[in-house]
Amino acid sequence: NKLKVVVTRDLGPDVMPLLLNNKELDVVVWPHNSVCDRKWLLENAAGASGILVMLSEKLDAELFDAAGPSLRVVSTMSVGYEHADLKELSSRGIRFGYTPDVLTDAVADLSIMLALMAGRNTKETLDIWPNFVWSPYVWCGPQLSATPTSPKRTAGFIGFGRIAQATLARLIPFGFQHCLYTANPATAPDHAADAALAAKYGVRELRRVPLDELARESDVVFVLAPGGAATYHIVDEKFLRGMKKSAVLVNTARGTLVDSDALAKALHEGWLYGAGIDVVEGEPKVGADHPLVKAPRCVVLPHIGSATTDTRIGMATLAANNLLGGLFGKEMPAELNTSR
Ligand code: GLV
Ligand code: GLV
Repeated sequence: NKLKVVVTRDLGPDVMPLLLNNKELDVVVWPHNSVCDRKWLLENAAGASGILVMLSEKLDAELFDAAGPSLRVVSTMSVGYEHADLKELSSRGIRFGYTPDVLTDAVADLSIMLALMAGRNTKETLDIWPNFVWSPYVWCGPQLSATPTSPKRTAGFIGFGRIAQATLARLIPFGFQHCLYTANPATAPDHAADAALAAKYGVRELRRVPLDELARESDVVFVLAPGGAATYHIVDEKFLRGMKKSAVLVNTARGTLVDSDALAKALHEGWLYGAGIDVVEGEPKVGADHPLVKAPRCVVLPHIGSATTDTRIGMATLAANNLLGGLFGKEMPAELNTSR
């Protein structure tokens, strides 16, 4: 009577042995290097005690019914969990693990990379090389770091959690002394916490502001809030029209936070300077004719925010250990309280 676990991707030689070498487990792994097929998952979930999934798997009543009452734990190899029905997990008493913290630095690194790329005509210059004619003012964009003639730099964050703060820390050497952010309207402002964070990062100003002020004042806006209904298209035409013409927008969170059509229009019409996008609505099914791929000064990447070897091994290890903790009634290293 081994415990059955279903894993929707091969987690590689550094991590699979944690599960495969455990004699108390019967491990079933999706055998392809592609998004796990829903029908396969529903069939193989029958009688499972644990399921380990990627962002692409919907975690809903249908899946939990397919597994049956044996299901004790679901573990996702992601920090985001908008693919999970938390109410269903909570009401069925199924424990749920995710992978915060281990990917914070990798995503903050990529956010800075996109902020730099978006302002410097990277897409256009990579496309034309080596057929270029150098001239003093060609391909000039706004500078991310402060300059003698333009010394003030303000960073705006939509969402101000772990990844946003790690991104702010990286912006300090660029001369950013002002930090504005928005937060979930259901939470109360905390001025003492803001003052403590301003001191921690060494900035002159760190304030929670309304969206229109964030758009108006920021030289770079980082979208780093969770996905889901509450943040759907929070960056819309109104927000984009309110941005500085020299500003750049970076989205390393979820595609659903940004209205892609409005952003494409904004870039074509020059409401802002450029954009760096790691996530798009509807991914991974996105065609080469996507409006953002065709928009000027828009760098689009295929959701690689956490894609460093160390970070992905860290995420997979954490997901496996969450699964094991939940299976054997022990502490899970990163368990989400689904009843909140
Ligand atoms: C990536 O997008 C994640 O949620 O881990
Ligand atoms: C620069 O950061 C300033 O506001 O003086």
